[in-house]
Amino acid sequence: MQTPTGDVVLDMFSRPLRDLRLSVTDRCNLRCTYCMPRKVFGPDHLFLPKELILSYEEITRLVAAISRLGLKKIRLTGGEPLLRRDLPRFISMLKTRIPDDIELAMTTNGILLSGYASHLAEAGLDRVTVSLDSLDDEIFRSMSDSDISVNKVLEGITAAKEAGLGVKVNCVVQKRVNEEQIIPLVEYFRDSDVILRFIEYMDVGNSNGWSMEEMVPASDIIDMISLKYPIEAVKSTESGQVAKRWRYLDGAGEIGFITSVSEPFCGDCCRARLSVDGHLYTCLFSANGNDLMTPLREGLDEMGLSKLVADIWNGRDDRYSELRNNETRLQPKVEMSYIGG
Ligand code: GTP
Ligand code: 5AD
Ligand code: SF4
Ligand code: SF4
Repeated sequence: MQTPTGDVVLDMFSRPLRDLRLSVTDRCNLRCTYCMPRKVFGPDHLFLPKELILSYEEITRLVAAISRLGLKKIRLTGGEPLLRRDLPRFISMLKTRIPDDIELAMTTNGILLSGYASHLAEAGLDRVTVSLDSLDDEIFRSMSDSDISVNKVLEGITAAKEAGLGVKVNCVVQKRVNEEQIIPLVEYFRDSDVILRFIEYMDVGNSNGWSMEEMVPASDIIDMISLKYPIEAVKSTESGQVAKRWRYLDGAGEIGFITSVSEPFCGDCCRARLSVDGHLYTCLFSANGNDLMTPLREGLDEMGLSKLVADIWNGRDDRYSELRNNETRLQPKVEMSYIGG
């Protein structure tokens, strides 16, 4: 049965399930210090073994089941999703099993994007969000603990635009690490059709040693940008949005801020996350997911899987960012690289 707004399933706070984030691999070709610090994700780290990784056919069955519940958007994530072989084939497969009006996006670090962009667009991907924390090679290499050049990512962004994909750029801001990159990034992307968003550094996972002291609140970033390029908030009527939308007063386009620490947005959170070993997480900060792999591999049909997810969603009462305090911060949490952004 549907609600008056057409949503099929609501949680304990009447939030619908609109946005599904699919992690297609737990591996990444970078080691961003705030996400996969090498001392934890080094050569000895145990990534998921092959037998626990869902095939594209299995993920597609799960997504087809979940999409019956009123999904509006699906985002492919990782780790780094482009490390998974034949991703365009998966996108084509997904497209045949989900309603046409579901938007298909992907989050990527952009390193492999230039070689894939046209294939992704042809397969039916609508948009990409590229993570880029610095335009300066030295800072980029230090934050991503790699020897990759920023140019590689910029080439990926250009290729994505040429392929007709919508493009956003996400920059995580860390105090005294890349604050000085805020204005260069603003100057690079304003007046382009790429929407830049700044993300407050969050206490996700258990391994980045997060402290509030390293977080730069969006209000400070807005003040810094406004001094040079005045901006104003855009009135948004859409609910369930992650980023707060702002625009340049001189008409140079939009810019966004993701305020998950200073101004949490759990109130209308409509996001679920599916790990590549088939566990459904109802919050980015959950310690455990709900096992869908076992019933899937035991042969439960799509109606049954759909009902299972509806029951999980009905019981959901997550609002971690709103409750964040010294105690919740110490609870075990899932790693961002395993569940995606
Ligand atoms: P669009 O579809 O382009 O609007 O993307 P989005 O606004 O959903 O943002 P995206 O998926 O790029 O998420 C940006 C970042 O915001 C993520 O990488 C996370 O760091 C953070 N984020 C996204 N969703 C959540 C959430 O549900 N809770 C919290 N606390 N942070 C989130
Ligand atoms: N805080 C904020 N954003 C993060 N990301 C990864 N770890 C964190 C964190 N601790 C972002 C990445 C990427 C997306 C997948 O999540 O930069 O844009
Ligand atoms: Fe960096 Fe994204 Fe890889 Fe994490 S998953 S290490 S944020 S590129
Ligand atoms: Fe949603 Fe959890 Fe993020 Fe709140 S903290 S917005 S409930 S994912």
